Amino acid sequence: MSRTIDIAPSILSADFSRLGEEIEAVERGGAAILHVDVMDGHFVPNITVGLPVVKSLARATNLPIDAHLMISEPGRYAEQFVAAGAKMVSIHVEADAHVHRTLASIKAAGAQAGIVINPATPVGSLEEALAFADYVLVMSVNPGFGGQSFIPTSIEKVRRLRAMIADRKLPTRIEIDGGIDSGNIAAVVDAGAEIIVAGSAVFGKSDPEAAVRELREATIQWV
Ligand code: DX5
Ligand code: ZN
Repeated sequence: MSRTIDIAPSILSADFSRLGEEIEAVERGGAAILHVDVMDGHFVPNITVGLPVVKSLARATNLPIDAHLMISEPGRYAEQFVAAGAKMVSIHVEADAHVHRTLASIKAAGAQAGIVINPATPVGSLEEALAFADYVLVMSVNPGFGGQSFIPTSIEKVRRLRAMIADRKLPTRIEIDGGIDSGNIAAVVDAGAEIIVAGSAVFGKSDPEAAVRELREATIQWV
């Protein structure tokens, strides 16, 4: 069956002093989405970028910006990321006591709303929230850093989530993030993932344009 598989390079592994050029390279390679990791040093043990960077990036690229909020109480900031230009904003189920309200606020502000689950968070925790999200992001590493190893049980997890979505006849897409490279991308797409985040497998390479192309080629049988 033909599906849309989107490659979403994560700028976390890019050279931040040359961000404009790095983004142009992945655009040429056929990236569909730009993944931006927002970390607060509280929900995750690392600090990255915030609203001003998303705002500048939104002006610098035509790619839709996917803001992955790894922050505590994301409901306090989610709408501001939409206002800054993000077309997709995701929040962690573990970080928000008011998931329904935050997802609704993202949609009302005009972006796609995503819900994220950590490696040890069961798919069952989405039982109620699933219908409120446009996409689910399955973390295949513990959030916080680029360049970690893919957790292999994530493949079965994506498969179970795909079955749960199909059961309910929902249009929800599945995104996967962490440790994806040209060696495992086919397995996660086969399991049901459609938005594929890759940081070090793109910007950790000497030729990010070619790296995106290689990832796309590895999924060619599905598109
Ligand atoms: C990790 C981030 C990822 C990270 C992925 O917390 O959410 O988006 O950039 O990096 P790689 O692809 O190197 O695992
Ligand atoms: Zn991410």
